[in-house]
Order: sequence, then C-alpha cells, then structure tokens
Amino acid sequence: MTQPKTPQERSLPAHIAIIMDGNGRWATARGLSRSEGHKAGSRAVRTVVTRCRELGISHLTLYAFSQENWGRPKKEVGFLFDLLVSFLRDELPAMERENIRLSVFGDISALPMAARKALDHAMARTARNTALHLNLALNYSGRADIVQACRRLMAAGTSEQDVTEELFSSFLWTAGQPDPDLVIRTSGEIRLSNFLLYQSAYSELYFTDIAWPDFGSEQLDEALHAYAMRSRRFGRTEEQKQS
Ligand code: FPP
Repeated sequence: MTQPKTPQERSLPAHIAIIMDGNGRWATARGLSRSEGHKAGSRAVRTVVTRCRELGISHLTLYAFSQENWGRPKKEVGFLFDLLVSFLRDELPAMERENIRLSVFGDISALPMAARKALDHAMARTARNTALHLNLALNYSGRADIVQACRRLMAAGTSEQDVTEELFSSFLWTAGQPDPDLVIRTSGEIRLSNFLLYQSAYSELYFTDIAWPDFGSEQLDEALHAYAMRSRRFGRTEEQKQS
C-alpha cells in the first residue's frame, strides 16, 4: 500500500518568493555587526535554495536589494554587493551541478561593475538549466517594474486596444515566469515593501517572526505546510472550486 501523501506533496507552490528580512536585528541581538548578519543571511540563502531544489520547486525569487536600500550607509551597501560577488563565485559550481538557472529582476545597470560582471557570468553559465529557476531581485522595485513595462510598451508603439494583462506581463521583469504562489516574509514585519506588486495579486502570504538568518529547511517546510492548508479560490466560491 502506498503511503498517503503529506499536504506538502499534494500541493506545492510552483513559485516561492521571499522577502529576506531581519539580518540586522539578528546580528544586533547577538552583539554582532550588521555585516555578520548579512553573512549569516547568505548562508540561509544557500540552505533554502538547496531545499527548494530537493523539493522540486520550479521557481524561487529572493528579494536581495531594493531600490530603497540605496539609502543605507554606503559601507553597508558596498558590503552587500561584495557579499553577492562572493556568493556567486562560491555557489556557481553547485548551480551548474544542480541544474539551477539564475536570473535577475531589477535594473542591474546601476550595480557596481564587479557585481554586474559576476551576475552576467553566472546567468550566462546557467542559462540552459531547467530544474530550479532562481531569481534575485536586485535594485528592484515593484512600482519601477510597472513603470518600465509601460515605457517599453509605449516605445514599442503598442496600440491601446492591444494592451492586455498577458501582453503587459510580457514586458515586466518577470516575463515568462509564473506569478508567485507563495510570498514569505521573515522577521515579523507584515507588509510587501514594493515587492512583486503586480505579480502577487493572488499570492498566498506567509509571515513569520523568525529572522532570515534562522530561516532554514524546517522553517521552509512549515511555510509549505501552511500553504498546503490554504484554500485558493481566485475570487470563486468554495463550491465552484471543488466542481
Ligand atoms: C533585510 O534585512 C535584508 C537585506 C536588505 C539584504 C538581504 C541580503 C541577504 C539575505 C544576504 C545576501 C544575499 C545574497 C543573495 C547573497 P535587514 O538588514 O533590513 O534587517 P533589519 O530589518 O533587521 O535591519
């Protein structure tokens, strides 16, 4: 007799998007520098990517740097991009081995040259991978995404009657990828902070008090369990959904 499937196995999200919050508070609570918190955060990234790959999640998006984050002290911003470069250098072999494709959502032209180079290299090397599509939201803003899509639609000479949701989506940074089924935010804040505003219209939202550096496989599994228990109706009634 086959074992009954766990809720997670019955109902896994195709696309998980995560607002990785709380590195600074995690560090401060331990008498460490904010940089130590970000370093611990990058270790959590590795754990969560590995777990998603194991589970067969097809898309994972991580909010790594918002347009608003440029307002942080210069030293912290510099540290975050240096950390990104080391992360890409260290993780690229595993991404290649594990068939993980890397993409970016956001305008990377404003990033330091070393970060742009490392991203371009990793994206080119993994472009044909198919198991897990890992997106890093960098210099990202959900509103800026909508504005850049409008600008490009107009620049392409699109006529008013041709603008549909489908066409509009194809101009967003997320073009070609499914909308997130599940958006997770760590560290107790209950807001979206300009993340995937258009794409999260019907996402399930999951908030946890755990700080990002402490978010691991067990915490991801808990979020997936909560997701599996949700009833997604997309505006329809429960009866309609079941028929
Ligand atoms: C928010 O926590 C986190 C960030 C702005 C940066 C996210 C970066 C990482 C998780 C590490 C590096 C990522 C990659 C992909 C290598 P916060 O610092 O605002 O926390 P706080 O609200 O407690 O201060």
